[in-house]
Formats: sequence, structure tokens, C-alpha cells
Amino acid sequence: MGNRGIEALKTAPVTIVACAELNNAGCREGQPITDKGGYWFMFDAALALENMVLTAQSLGLGTLFIGGMDAKKVETLLHVPTGYAAVILMVLGYPNEQPEARPRKELSELVFQDTFSVKQ
Ligand SMILES: Cc1cc2nc3c(=O)[nH]c(=O)nc-3n(C[C@H](O)[C@H](O)[C@H](O)COP(=O)(O)O)c2cc1C
Repeated sequence: MGNRGIEALKTAPVTIVACAELNNAGCREGQPITDKGGYWFMFDAALALENMVLTAQSLGLGTLFIGGMDAKKVETLLHVPTGYAAVILMVLGYPNEQPEARPRKELSELVFQDTFSVKQ
């Protein structure tokens, strides 16, 4: 199956490759210190990128995440050293369309008080 982000990747002027150091976030002396293991680098990268998305939006720019990539190839191409990972690509450019906002879930479907509660 093709990745519909490829077209944006080819045409947008900028692609940001978010890279993260492994075994650092959520780790002490290289060992995970929470039950989430060594994956906190994904969280950190997402926090940084979300700030970029919001800033880009405020400047009239558009963004697209491309997670469906061959990370090893990207790391080789960019000489990402051992101990770091290419997490995701973020394409950045002026959008060629202004689509209507897509429907969002109601807050009541996502926010619960006092106890977690998901309708199965
Ligand atoms: C972690 C993550 C990975 C994504 N990877 C891809 C991808 O590989 N290809 C793609 O076309 N869209 C990908 N997307 C989706 C787009 O970045 C974007 O979120 C989606 O098109 C919805 O955007 P919209 O809400 O502005 O319409 C990914 C989104 C996230 C959050």
C-alpha cells in the first residue's frame, strides 16, 4: 500500500527529520526507570513536534507527519549515529488547500472524572 504522504514529501520545501537519543529519556544510567521502558523518546519527540505543528499553523504553514518510513534508510542517509533514532518525518510547507475541519470526538467520549471509563 502506498503512502499518501509521499506526494507532500516530494513537493514541500522542507522536511524535518525528528531524531531522538535512545536510552536517555525515562532512563537512569541507561536503564529504564518506569514501566514504559525505553520508549519515552517517542513522547519527547512528539511534544517537540506538536509545538512545531502549532507554531507552523500560526504562521500559515501546513505540516504532515510521515511515520510510515524506512527509519534505517533515513538514519543511514543522514548519518544518524548509533544510539539515536529517526522517529518521524514532518513535512512543512504552505498548504495548497484549506480543508474543512474534520469531525472530532465529543469531549465526553475522551475525558472522564474520577474513573477511567471507555464504552466497549
Ligand atoms: C504518528 C503519526 C504518523 C503518521 N504517518 C503518516 C504517514 O506515514 N503518511 C501519511 O500520509 N500520514 C501520516 N500521518 C497522518 C498525517 O500526519 C495527519 O495527521 C493526517 O493526515 C490527519 O491530518 P488532518 O487532521 O490535518 O487532516 C501520521 C500521523 C501521525 C500522528
